[in-house]
Amino acid sequence: MNIAIASDHGGFKLKEQITDHLIKRGISVMNLGTDSEESVDYPIYGKACAEAVASGAAELGIVVCGSGIGISIAANKVNKIRCGLCTSVEMAHLAKQHNNANMIALGGRITEPELAFKIVDEWLDTEFEGGRHKRRVDMLDNL
Ligand code: RB5
Repeated sequence: MNIAIASDHGGFKLKEQITDHLIKRGISVMNLGTDSEESVDYPIYGKACAEAVASGAAELGIVVCGSGIGISIAANKVNKIRCGLCTSVEMAHLAKQHNNANMIALGGRITEPELAFKIVDEWLDTEFEGGRHKRRVDMLDNL
């Protein structure tokens, strides 16, 4: 599996920590920046990660900004992207089970690393339920 990951300055530290976590899980990670805590604009990084997923260059994507809000909004502007902002393990579970989220967003100023790793693992390890949820996800993709 390969996962694209990107952040702004507010999510940089957590992005690096999640990257290490993913590598420990044997996942190949495509880093799309940013690469320091110097101030940058989150829409650029949300779009870059979303385009990597939408084009098939990466199977899934993770984006991080200070709150997770701005970069998730940016990612969801890209066609075929379903990016869920996750602040709990339950949200990560539902993001995959019901929404088949192909990206998640986290807040580097909101979520501590240990919880972020649990969120990422729950999202990766949960199966999409399909059925009535597939109809709704198909509707999302056609909006
Ligand atoms: C940057 O200061 C901050 O606004 C950004 O990381 C994010 O929280 C936006 O939603």
